[in-house]
Amino acid sequence: MTEVRTPKRSGRGLAGLSGLSYDLLMASAERRMFAAIRKDLLASTTGRVIEVGGGTGANLLHYPRGALEHLDVVEPSESMAARFERRRPRWALLHPGSAEELPFPDATFDAAVGTLVFCSVPDMERGFAELRRVLVPGGRFHFLEHVRSQRPRVGSWQDRLDGVWSRMCGGCHANRRTVEAIESAGFEVEHLDEREVGWQGGLVRDFAWGIARSA
Ligand SMILES: C[S@@+](CC[C@H](N)C(=O)[O-])C[C@H]1O[C@@H](n2cnc3c(N)ncnc32)[C@H](O)[C@@H]1O
Repeated sequence: MTEVRTPKRSGRGLAGLSGLSYDLLMASAERRMFAAIRKDLLASTTGRVIEVGGGTGANLLHYPRGALEHLDVVEPSESMAARFERRRPRWALLHPGSAEELPFPDATFDAAVGTLVFCSVPDMERGFAELRRVLVPGGRFHFLEHVRSQRPRVGSWQDRLDGVWSRMCGGCHANRRTVEAIESAGFEVEHLDEREVGWQGGLVRDFAWGIARSA
């Protein structure tokens, strides 16, 4: 069994937003885009599942309840966690902690989930290595993230403005090559969808979601 320390919770989530502000800010985008993606993405989750950065619980509605044995959710922000806790069903448990140091033994989970999280995890590579550690061999990681644009000029602006953007948005990076990092961590991407939303999300323009198998 691997021994891990559980870090203390920080006070706030994205850009210092409270859980309530996050939900209000996301409401329209949830209706227009994310709810359908979440439903599709989570439809094949099964067994014991871990979700990192569960936020206020936006995924809870979309898990195929009958297929899940249990859901363990790790969330560092007290404010996001408080809102999650109000929605938490009996089959889910919330833990303080971070993606880079998961408070679980090796090979505990059949599936892992992370949505809109790894843009702001300080050490993304360590987070993916941790997910591989706690997944059973062949376990699947279901992800949805905004990623660096494939358009060279846009990507170069995302690089140049990264420092300012990250300070404004609570550690979010718009220029991360997240899918490549998932592959480098030892996952094999089995399904991948991508969508460009344009400048309406500030520096955030491109989303990628899919399922990767721990090879
Ligand atoms: C943009 S919100 C997304 C919340 C939720 N996953 C969703 O899809 O709506 C990002 C979440 O990641 C959490 N987070 C930030 N750094 C983290 C870390 N190092 N490990 C785990 N979660 C983290 C934040 O507290 C916040 O709840």
